Order: sequence, then structure tokens, then C-alpha cells
Amino acid sequence: MAEEAILGYLEKNEEISDSGKFAEEKGISHDEIVNVIKSLNGFRLVDAEDIKRERWGLTKEGDKYAGAGSPEVQLFLAIPPEGITREELQKKLDPSIFKIGCQQAIKNKWIEMGKSQVSRKVQHVDDRVRDLLMQIQNGEAVNAEDVDDLKRRKLITPLIWKGYSVKKGPKYAPKRKKVATDLTRENLLRGDWRELEFKEYNFLAKGQPTEGGCLHPLLKVRRQMQMIFLQMGFEEMPTNNFVESSFWNFDALFQPQQHPARDSHDTFFLKEPSTTNKLPEDYVERVKGVHESGGYGSRGYGYVWKREEANKNLLRTHTTAVSSRMLYALAQDFAPKKYYSIDRVFRNEAVDRTHLAEFHQIEGLICDRGLTLGHLIGVLQDFFSRLGMSKLKFKPAYNPYTEPSMEIFSYHEGLEKWVEIGNSGMFRPEMLLPMGLPQDVQVIAWGLSLERPTMILYGIDNIRDLFGHKVDLGLIKRNPLCRIGL
Ligand code: PHE
Repeated sequence: MAEEAILGYLEKNEEISDSGKFAEEKGISHDEIVNVIKSLNGFRLVDAEDIKRERWGLTKEGDKYAGAGSPEVQLFLAIPPEGITREELQKKLDPSIFKIGCQQAIKNKWIEMGKSQVSRKVQHVDDRVRDLLMQIQNGEAVNAEDVDDLKRRKLITPLIWKGYSVKKGPKYAPKRKKVATDLTRENLLRGDWRELEFKEYNFLAKGQPTEGGCLHPLLKVRRQMQMIFLQMGFEEMPTNNFVESSFWNFDALFQPQQHPARDSHDTFFLKEPSTTNKLPEDYVERVKGVHESGGYGSRGYGYVWKREEANKNLLRTHTTAVSSRMLYALAQDFAPKKYYSIDRVFRNEAVDRTHLAEFHQIEGLICDRGLTLGHLIGVLQDFFSRLGMSKLKFKPAYNPYTEPSMEIFSYHEGLEKWVEIGNSGMFRPEMLLPMGLPQDVQVIAWGLSLERPTMILYGIDNIRDLFGHKVDLGLIKRNPLCRIGL
């Protein structure tokens, strides 16, 4: 009906100058007229131009008074001709009506407020405020002074009215031809496809966004790392235990029991179960020995090693705990191996832009005869260049379990500086020989976090935007990179 009205009107007339007035004349809702105009305009049957008008509308409060009367009149009517006590009057009215009503009625000189008694000063009042509000509600004109008053009392607010003026468009026709959207079997059988007009394809339409799953950047980079390790011939280590004993996490790695990392300020210890109940006893003896007095060409640390300390359960602080278990198992029947792992670790850290109390570590190790630092540097060069980081530098470092140890730096082209990307080294004989590995077997190893390269690759500068409870999942959905699988 709206479409016929508009196209029919334009057949005989130059223009619909105001869609609002037009809607009123035709007795059609303005919303419906607007929808049809938009559609006709889209198909170029008409040319529509926006018109905007400001008018006044009632606020919630204004709307209430238009219905129930202004507070001052409500108050006035609640006062009987003989007067009333203030308390009684207050009981009869809503607190806000009482308060506003008093102010306005006193200002209008309608009432007299005695110490305890309230009485009328006039016999009759008109509710001008209500009348004005109703006029505004009906779109009638109201003089500027009254508008100002109502505005000050926050009873009215400007409303933007939007409509259109409409003229014939380049494809105007008194009736819109229905265009076919599909070529059907029936069209072919009847042969009417010859006359049919088909709707044009809109190749620019974006289409519905698909509600598919998205991959979190950490999952994507983890996959990328996994693929690199697999291509380099590494096997994955089983990392499915977040809870570990201090023994495998520290002692087996020749980390002395007084080491600050073993303090509860750095490590989360378990309350329940607080200790482990199974360790390989003969190996424990050898570890105790090497800590206390050395052996295997070492002087040891020279302190009294305590079994209770080694028994304490904790949330593993590095995946090297898994490596120590794996190397011990491998020592029982040695063969050269390349192992890797990528999983979660926990540290009692103050959380900030670059630190969380839990994060992920990537670790690689090679166990074979006759390995040297040169092999380690070569493997790291190979590994990191597969990630697009081929400019590497190494800096001497210290780990209780490796000697020599090296921090790994990579030149970041975007940041134009050297950034630390990992830690590495050759496991000490004090760690490997008590396990039972042959004398001539060396282990080269390195570790890095999964979060750091992910942040660099995805341009994220606050780790809390990447991992943890503050992550905005919408960001992952909106990031086109997360939609591309690896
Ligand atoms: N475990 C070390 C860390 O947590 C990384 C590392 C692994 C260093 C293997 C040397 C060898 O930082």
C-alpha cells in the first residue's frame, strides 16, 4: 500500500516534499513509508533526500505529569479548603511530588506554608504545565518562554525527527516490476525466462558473518612450533602433569635446595597432597650424593641434602621437569633422541604487562654422543630461522643445570632492536651421569615461552590481552589472522 501510494503520487506530482506529512495524509505509519522509500531508493526508482527536524519530546518525568498532572497541582488538590498539617500532606503524596510540588506551588503563590499547617491561598488553579506538555506531545507549537521553563524543569528534551523528500529516480516506473531472483525449472518449461527480468547480483555485498570457531593466537603459534619440531625430527614429550615433585623439577636438575627459585615467593607449592610418594630410590641416592659431595668430576655443593625438600609437590615451574623425567627414562636404555614439549608452567609472579603467574614453555632437547656447543648453536639457528628469525646472537648466561648456558637474542626488524627470545645450554654432567647416561653422551637443550613470539607476531603488547581472564574473545573473532587455519 505504501509503495503504491508513493509511486502513484509521483506519477502525477513532481515531489513528495515531506515523508512525515505524506504519511499523515495517507494514513500510513511513517515507519512503513520510510522503509519503502529506502527500498525504492536502493533500486533507483526514486531519489530520496534526508530531512531532519528538531522538535521537542517529553522526558519520562514530563510524560508522567502529562498523565497525572503537574506536582504543584497534585499537591494543591491534596490540600483541603480548611488546610492540613504538613505531615498529613506528606503522607498523601509521593516524596518527589511533595518536594517539587511545594517548591512550585509556593513560587506560584498558591499555598501558604506555616510552621506546621499548610493552606490554600487561592481557590482554584489551572494545570498549565500539564496543558503545555500535552500540546508538545501532540506536536503543537508552544511559545519560547514556556519551552524554556519546561526545559529547565527537565520535562522536555529535543528529539530529532528524520524523514525524506522524494522525487522520481532514473529507474522510476509507476509500478515496481518484480524481478526474478532464481531461474527455476518452471521458468525453463514455460519459456517465460525469455521475458523475465532478473535481479542483478550484488558482488559487493558482505554476506552474513559466519558464527564459526576461531583459533586463539597461542594455539596457532603452538601449532606452528609443533610443525617445526616435527619437520626437524623431534618427538613430543608427555607433559600432562601440572603437578610435579620438587625432585624432578629441581633436584634432578642439580638445582640446590637453597636456590631462591625454590622459595614459596617464586613457586606454588601444593597443600594437598603436599608430598610425592614415589621416587626411584637408588637414583635419589645418587642425586643426594652429587648435591652433597659431588662425584663425576664435580665437587658438589657441600650442604646437607634433605629428602623432605625433594618430596614437596609443586606446580611445575618449567617444562624442564618433564625433560629430566624423560632423560632418566632414556638412561635406562639409551638411544639418541630428539625431544620437544610445549605446555603450561606456573610461577608465583607479580602480574604485569609482560608477566603472568602461568604461561607456556616450548622446550627442545637433543641427546646424543659427542654433542658440542657448536651443535647447539647450529640447531638454534635452524629452529629460529624456520620462525623467520635468522639474525641471532648469544650471550653467556647461568642455569644450575646447564654449562655452558646461553641466552638467545634475535634482531627484531619491526622494533629495530635485539630482543631476548630464549635460554639454552648443555646439561651438566652432575645432572646426566647420576641418571645413568653413558659418559660420552651430551644433551643440548633450549627453552622459550610461547607467549613472547606470539605477542611479537600478533603485535600484542600486553600479555593480559593474550591470555587469562581479561582476554576479549571478540578480539580473536574480529582478528582476520585468527580465522586462517595453520
Ligand atoms: N628451563 C629454562 C627456563 O625455564 C629454559 C631452558 C631449557 C634453559 C633448557 C636451558 C635448557 O627458562
